[in-house]
Amino acid sequence: MDAIALPQAATEQQTQSKKTVLSGIQSTGILHIGNYIGALSLWAANQSQYNNLFMVANLHTLTVPEAVHPAELRRKSREVAALYVASGIDPNESIIFLQSDVPAHTYLAWILGCCTPVGWLERMTQYKVKAAAQETVGSGLLNYPTLQAADILIYRANYVPVGDDQNQHLEITRDIAQRFNHLFGTYFPLPETLNRRSGARIMGLDDPSQKMSKSIAAKKQGHAIALLDSPDVVKKTIMGGVTDAGGEIRFETASPGVKNLLVLYEVLSGDSQSAIEEHFVGKGYGALKRELVELVVTTLKPIQDKFHALMDDERGLDALLSEGAAKASLIANQTIADVRQLVGV
Ligand code: AMP
Ligand code: TRP
Repeated sequence: MDAIALPQAATEQQTQSKKTVLSGIQSTGILHIGNYIGALSLWAANQSQYNNLFMVANLHTLTVPEAVHPAELRRKSREVAALYVASGIDPNESIIFLQSDVPAHTYLAWILGCCTPVGWLERMTQYKVKAAAQETVGSGLLNYPTLQAADILIYRANYVPVGDDQNQHLEITRDIAQRFNHLFGTYFPLPETLNRRSGARIMGLDDPSQKMSKSIAAKKQGHAIALLDSPDVVKKTIMGGVTDAGGEIRFETASPGVKNLLVLYEVLSGDSQSAIEEHFVGKGYGALKRELVELVVTTLKPIQDKFHALMDDERGLDALLSEGAAKASLIANQTIADVRQLVGV
């Protein structure tokens, strides 16, 4: 696994007043290795040094309501929570919960929405792309960023570990926090985005010009490696990955498809780029792909085993999520009490 991604808490004293980490993933589609590398594996690193909150963003999933069936949303939300734990998020170190179980998020989202100019929301790339793909656009899609800002600010989070496609959402979160602080008095700390140095944007194996994404994965085989894929499917997907006519394995000069395979190899093996180049001297892309299959399969096996055990224990997962929601609510409700004072309601 890639070296430490979160800043290390340097001294004993610092660890006593731990900083807060928050992140989340929407409960749509199938989680893939890009989600694992860009987000989940970062969350799992150094949990003991932080106060951590990891939520399933199931209210954000509703921003495209046509895309989700209620029963499926319920099932997916639990699955995503189970994948958090299976990927190494320790419920003893981190609060794991469903966003919808802490209604204070939506309360704060309203107040933040009232201090957010519509122009800021209309400029968001994700809004423009998603709105263009729909006949009618719900106001929830436009207000997506104010809810995300509320998710983060309600815990006064310091760090938000995400893939680099979320950076614009983090920028607007800071803008909204600053505007609130300006209007009502400095209250919210400005959260920092944490991206991996390598692996913050994993590309599609079938088309390295596209980010690996849940929505493309739902339509096309060979695009993504899902966290629950069997070894056979992993093999087929990686062996079919786009490369080029060359054969030399070097990070700097690699074509986008080969670079993507190399980044996957780098992050999952934890080896340095120079060690990887040396290892593959005189070997071709076939060898790189075969070894990457091994690496991915051995990374996914324990995650899949743990996931199935968690899903089999329905009560255990329910208890974990309700405990998480109770702990998160304690913090969130305090923020709401403070904010009510500040804004005068
Ligand atoms: P999403 O799939 O959009 O719900 O994203 C959930 C988390 O995974 C976010 O932190 C994303 O930035 C991250 N993520 C999604 N796709 C990728 C990717 N292809 N590479 C790296 N990180 C990703
Ligand atoms: N927008 C994020 C995504 O699509 C999900 C998300 C919702 C999130 N709230 C958040 C991420 C708060 C980080 C912090 O992946």
